[in-house]
Amino acid sequence: MTILAPSILAADFSRLGEETRAIAQAGADWIHLDVMDGHFVPNISFGPAVVKALRPWTDKVFDVHLMIAPADPYLAAFAEAGADAITVHVEAGPHIHRSLQTIRGSGKRAGVALNPGTPASAIEPVLDMVDLVLVMTVNPGFGGQSFIHSALETIARVKAMTAGRSIDISVDGGITPETAGPAAQAGANILVAGSAAFKGGPDKYETNVAAIRAAA
Ligand code: DX5
Ligand code: ZN
Repeated sequence: MTILAPSILAADFSRLGEETRAIAQAGADWIHLDVMDGHFVPNISFGPAVVKALRPWTDKVFDVHLMIAPADPYLAAFAEAGADAITVHVEAGPHIHRSLQTIRGSGKRAGVALNPGTPASAIEPVLDMVDLVLVMTVNPGFGGQSFIHSALETIARVKAMTAGRSIDISVDGGITPETAGPAAQAGANILVAGSAAFKGGPDKYETNVAAIRAAA
């Protein structure tokens, strides 16, 4: 079963609680929360205080995607704020194994993310430590960018590398009803969608979510 994880980066930030509840009620499976530090990526979004403030608005899985470096000093804060899964980028620091150990140690699902320019082989040594691999299909930092088709090959490689293990494969960036199918066929079972989920405002969320799900 495909898991649909709308990214609240594309929501109305002045009403984030209501937006989180609305997209959950419209059929989202997980809520994807994009954390950006203006250092690892060229944009700043929000931190653990916002994750904590949103936690009472839904009981869906909170899938926290950390685009921050260093990540280690903040892992405990995101775990305590109510994250269920915490994903760190393999490019974000020299000690990915330690970061994953810390996340697992806090009882959360540990994820590792790959930028479009990073080979799948970069995560091979830590596969024992991960519950989720997130493959970026845009360069991280902004919503609303176009899907990078060459990253489908990375998804397929991750799928082959993780055969026989219970590891989710998430695809993030430029997911629409057009790109959801190829991403799922390549091996992704979690689809993150920002703009395509939130476009048109709350009245459209149910239709948007259904269209992405149907395409997968
Ligand atoms: C990009 C983020 C994505 C982003 C996806 O840096 O990690 O989760 O919000 O947005 P869309 O679906 O608009 O590409
Ligand atoms: Zn993301």
